[in-house]
Amino acid sequence: DKEDLSVSLNLTSCHSSYGRPDLLVYCCPPRSIAEEPVIDFQFPGPSTPLRIRRPAHRVGRGFIAKYKKALLIMKSLPYSDPRSFRHQADMHCIFCTGAYDQPHSHRPLDIHRKWFFFPWHRMLLHFHERIIGSLIGDDTFALPFWNWDSPDGMAMPEWYMHSPFFDNQRDVSHFPPKVSDLNYDYEKTDENMENKERMHLNMVFMYSQMVSGAKKPELFMGCPYKNSEEGVCDGPGTIESAPHNTIHTWVGSNFNVMREDMGAFYSAARDPSFYAHHSNLDRLWEVWKQIHKVDLQTFDPDWLNSSFYFHDENSQLVRIKVRDVLDTKKLRYVYEEVDLPWLNTRP
Ligand code: C2O
Repeated sequence: DKEDLSVSLNLTSCHSSYGRPDLLVYCCPPRSIAEEPVIDFQFPGPSTPLRIRRPAHRVGRGFIAKYKKALLIMKSLPYSDPRSFRHQADMHCIFCTGAYDQPHSHRPLDIHRKWFFFPWHRMLLHFHERIIGSLIGDDTFALPFWNWDSPDGMAMPEWYMHSPFFDNQRDVSHFPPKVSDLNYDYEKTDENMENKERMHLNMVFMYSQMVSGAKKPELFMGCPYKNSEEGVCDGPGTIESAPHNTIHTWVGSNFNVMREDMGAFYSAARDPSFYAHHSNLDRLWEVWKQIHKVDLQTFDPDWLNSSFYFHDENSQLVRIKVRDVLDTKKLRYVYEEVDLPWLNTRP
């Protein structure tokens, strides 16, 4: 028998962790979830409506009003409620700063810079979306995606400038209609570049991150990671390093050490644009699978069997495995088809 090297968590171990080199953060749940009853994830039934995630720059007023209502409720829930906005943000903090240990290892778990990046964020968004829907009694509610890989979506969607979607810890000089630099570097980016030229460079960059530079899973998804390999394997895939990291940095405030909120893992999910950003990343994982004809079901069983914990819309603790989130239709959501303008932009 092969040794089981899948990753799981020791839930009794939540402890303070590093938000940044000079800052210890505590983002553990108010009461240990180790004492809560847990159920294994079940797919939503086939009669559940299919949620259709749409580009944020194209949604209508009706959608924004609905989302606004839900987000206001979510932000008003007490912190002790796992559905509250701050609690959701702290889930990200927990898994991104190593607040939990693993049962078989002393190494705290961080889901970035490795194969867990895509599935873990998919889980977070899935439960987040279900919670939002249930707060307004709308099981068709679907998170929007920030379509930054398309020229008309490259600026932050305008409505994220208004409450409750606004976050006051953002770089003012990057407010819309400023076009983002998908390969942003706060020291090197030419802030005065014409939008048109920026869009072109962004397209060329997307082509290399999605196509020419992403031909193997190790290139696109980063480091495979197992309990056995602790300490050895650490490195993000193409899209995770940019535009993922770079857009985080680009949005965050230039007055903060790590460009919080969006620029630092511990604080990123406090900005509502985080969810639209990750929805696009989640969509690009799907697009990559199609372009390169990848079958994730055949991947390493230790990865497929790795499990995480989330609260659902009924505040029920759920154990969910990577293998549960490989097919978005089974999770009852899809992405509206949009153009992939970068697909034919060879450098
Ligand atoms: Cu968990 Cu965009 O980071």
